[in-house]
Amino acid sequence: MPIRRARSIVCYWHDGAFVVENFRTRITVSLDPVAAELLNELGDWTEPEKVAARFPDFDPESVRQSLADLEESGLIVRQGQSAAEHDEVVGTSWPEWNMSARYLHTMTKNAPYTEDTPELREELAAQGGRPALFKSYPEADVVLLPRIPRPIGASFEEVLYRRRTHRAFADEDVPLVDFATLLSSVFGPAQFIDADAYGSLMQRTSASGGARQEIEAYVLVRRVEALAPGIYHYNGLIHGLEFLGDCPPWQDVAQLSVNQRGIEDAAFAIVLTSLVERMRSKYRTARTYRIMLMDAGHLAQTFAMVTTALGLGPFQTAAFADTDVEDLLGIDGVDETALYLLSAGVPADPQQDGTNGLKTPAGLAAFRRSRIAH
Ligand SMILES: Cc1cc2nc3c(=O)[nH]c(=O)nc-3n(C[C@H](O)[C@H](O)[C@H](O)COP(=O)(O)O)c2cc1C
Repeated sequence: MPIRRARSIVCYWHDGAFVVENFRTRITVSLDPVAAELLNELGDWTEPEKVAARFPDFDPESVRQSLADLEESGLIVRQGQSAAEHDEVVGTSWPEWNMSARYLHTMTKNAPYTEDTPELREELAAQGGRPALFKSYPEADVVLLPRIPRPIGASFEEVLYRRRTHRAFADEDVPLVDFATLLSSVFGPAQFIDADAYGSLMQRTSASGGARQEIEAYVLVRRVEALAPGIYHYNGLIHGLEFLGDCPPWQDVAQLSVNQRGIEDAAFAIVLTSLVERMRSKYRTARTYRIMLMDAGHLAQTFAMVTTALGLGPFQTAAFADTDVEDLLGIDGVDETALYLLSAGVPADPQQDGTNGLKTPAGLAAFRRSRIAH
């Protein structure tokens, strides 16, 4: 039966060794780089007997043996076998998303759940404990925010159904008390729990994987009562804003999100970043990367609910120029990385009913265009 190179493989160098990883089978082998030449010849179905002829400088028996070894490691598949079919699907799906999406998705599936181990506890103790619970900029000027929250009278049902993504905002300041209520109720600590070797952990109003609370909030202020426009870090410990610098002209801020309307007229924007070490120090599998994204999503949803309850309009986007945003905040984009861009303001149309600019409710014609099975 003809053979070919598995599609679901990725090659790299690690500790000086040439490594080939099959992300479908999760088998990783280090190989003599010459094996890559062999794999290179096997892009399409090929009769194994014909392969040796393509390597006249090699002993045919050694080529046969190498092919057998590569097949044994799952780097070569055989036509007609179910492994080959599965490999085709896993290794070529989502073509526009490329190898990177396939690799990340597959390699972060079925990870073992590792609660803390004695070794991890020892390691943490040797490092002098866990990463700091709160990030702070001790040298920065600080604005302490009002602590009396604005009572939120909206019913849960109203908030749930009134939440919509807004893209047009009034030319009005957001009241300071609303802004402060928003920050404390979404990003501030709600309570602290005793987490044994991990010390005290913070809980917010949003769920957080392992209560790691790795997400930080940076605020770009444009129109908030009493607040000078600028770039601030929200420090939940002091319920204060640490001033990091002047904001670029707002049209440049809007450009960071590829000029989307949701930022253009907004009163403020918030960048959610992840302090990766807070996660990595406890969770050692790559699946943790997914959890960081989920955590950012939880906070963004709470942000949307609270802004709605306060009568503000929320916007959120994943489309932004990561590196430019990170440069603006002065973070390195690796140990701390930008994940999500939010904004809000006083809605231009307080009656915006959630049709998201599309004012026509879906009728028979629209449903005909979507295939709905029932
Ligand atoms: C992860 C995520 C990314 C989004 N990115 C964008 C975006 O780049 N541009 C935009 O205009 N809206 C963006 N949105 C808003 C969606 O378009 C909006 O949520 C959707 O149209 C549904 O409308 P609703 O939020 O009012 O229910 C995003 C929403 C989410 C959850």
